[in-house]
Amino acid sequence: MTDSAVPRLPIDLRSDTVTRPTPAMRRAMAEAEVGDDVYGEDPTVNRLQARAAEIFGREAALFVPSGSMGNLLAIKAWTRHGTEVISEQRAHIAIYEMASMSAIAGCMPRVASAPKGILTWELIEPLIRPKLYYCSQTALVELENTSNMHGGSVYPPAVAEEICDRTHAVGLPVHLDGARIFNAAVALGRSVAELTRKFDSVMFCLSKGLGAPVGSMLVGSRDFIERVHSGRKLLGGGMRQVGVLAAAGLVALEQTPAILHVDHENAGRLAEELARIPGISLDPREVVTNIVIFDVGSSGRTAEEICSALAHRGVLCGPTGKYSIRMVTHYDVDRVGVDLAIAAVKETLAAPSGRAISAR
Ligand SMILES: Cc1ncc(COP(=O)(O)O)c(C=O)c1O
Repeated sequence: MTDSAVPRLPIDLRSDTVTRPTPAMRRAMAEAEVGDDVYGEDPTVNRLQARAAEIFGREAALFVPSGSMGNLLAIKAWTRHGTEVISEQRAHIAIYEMASMSAIAGCMPRVASAPKGILTWELIEPLIRPKLYYCSQTALVELENTSNMHGGSVYPPAVAEEICDRTHAVGLPVHLDGARIFNAAVALGRSVAELTRKFDSVMFCLSKGLGAPVGSMLVGSRDFIERVHSGRKLLGGGMRQVGVLAAAGLVALEQTPAILHVDHENAGRLAEELARIPGISLDPREVVTNIVIFDVGSSGRTAEEICSALAHRGVLCGPTGKYSIRMVTHYDVDRVGVDLAIAAVKETLAAPSGRAISAR
């Protein structure tokens, strides 16, 4: 949504969380009707929650300050202390949420490593505990779509639905970390309601590619939303005239899904061009949404070294491993910015590294 041909520096590809609110969001924030949301009296929050429930075809929704709190509230709602939560090994709940499922919800993570982060029932089933009195019990299965740390990969709908059906058949719920479910929907040409219909609860973020400055949503049954509503208060997440934030969230929800395809096209171009650069290994066919993760092991430099050299050239991105780098496209970096980022990577990798080539 930058409207000039001269991109704003730096070109920030660290995450899709770095977007600034659009003029329409800022206007809506300034004009928002507000009330005390702890009393349930903020009309803008109520509209956002009703609209999210409608879009997802669910009974109810709750606005929460962050995706991490949304996931934690869902985990708390579905589990008891001393139970286990199954997820993919590199799921956000397993590695980036401060072990809150253990620290606060009292649960043990049980993880499986899945190609591209896409779990299958075959990978999940062996992790489900037998119903023996001396075993901790499985309480929840969690999927992440798109999978952040696996380059924005998307669950084939049939795979996710089979997991939901089989998990339900053994009496367990399934929560979806759908921080970027709108990206998955755009990639598949399906609605978010279709993709999430079999999940017991869904968290999605307004503050990622949708571009709102703050906030995530939980959607599910009325009963589930009642439980997470009181859980949010327990964690200190009851907010007052928060319609100023919900107003931006409503604009994000209504307007941004229609332009997410541009981020995907930019990520596709980025991936195609990066894949041609000596020292980078990446399969551009695997980039189907807005996240590009590539390996720089054969460049003889670490991801940290390359990211810091790129920062000097005005391009920001982050290491996701010693030799892997993540770039995420979003509406604040346009095609011109992407082309400049590609040029900066080419120049950086062509420049002498300043140290001996190290074997990986
Ligand atoms: C897949 C996924 N889930 C959850 C979150 C947490 O969202 P937040 O940063 O709003 O807590 C993120 C954040 O990047 C994420 O990528």
